[in-house]
Amino acid sequence: MNYFTLELVGLLVVLFVLSGVAWAGVRGGAPWVPTSRKGVEKALQLARLQAGETVYDVGCGDGRTMWAAHRAGAGRVVGIELALPLWGLCQLRRVLGRYANTEVRWGNAFAQGDYAEADVLFVFLMTEPMQEFERVVWPQLKTGTRVVSHAFTMPNVPVRETVPFVKWGHAPLYLYVK
Ligand SMILES: C[S@@+](CC[C@H](N)C(=O)[O-])C[C@H]1O[C@@H](n2cnc3c(N)ncnc32)[C@H](O)[C@@H]1O
Repeated sequence: MNYFTLELVGLLVVLFVLSGVAWAGVRGGAPWVPTSRKGVEKALQLARLQAGETVYDVGCGDGRTMWAAHRAGAGRVVGIELALPLWGLCQLRRVLGRYANTEVRWGNAFAQGDYAEADVLFVFLMTEPMQEFERVVWPQLKTGTRVVSHAFTMPNVPVRETVPFVKWGHAPLYLYVK
């Protein structure tokens, strides 16, 4: 393979990754904006995650909250991601990091139907997807399930607790309890 072909392949890979992430952002109504490390830490504290609990990350991005939940002792962690390149990245990290009892699903989180087993959900979407979250996911949750939402709220469910803005890259976190 000559240098020009290598450059072309590299460019095509970059275009595939960027377009996949952008497409998912438009289709899902929430682009990929990763939560800061501090934000992930605060989200875990707010969720009061107990060892062995089942965690779902709705729109898991690069999976950073998933791995943090795993390290914090979650029994099972499921991430769902619409963007194929991000899903691929999560799968790679899952295998390389040997994160046992973790699963990453590719697809629309609102087309999934098994949130009833979740103890904790993390979500960082936007205004419209949060309406869909309230309509589709919230009714499936069992009593006592905690939802931590980064930056956006469900329109009709009262927030139980708020961690206010701390610094750039860390918008408010909202806790809901079913
Ligand atoms: C703001 S980012 C948050 C990423 C990650 N949760 C974090 O906090 O770092 C939103 C993510 O949700 C994904 N997403 C948007 N709509 C989705 C849907 N309906 N189903 C699954 N993933 C979705 C996007 O592709 C993006 O990666």
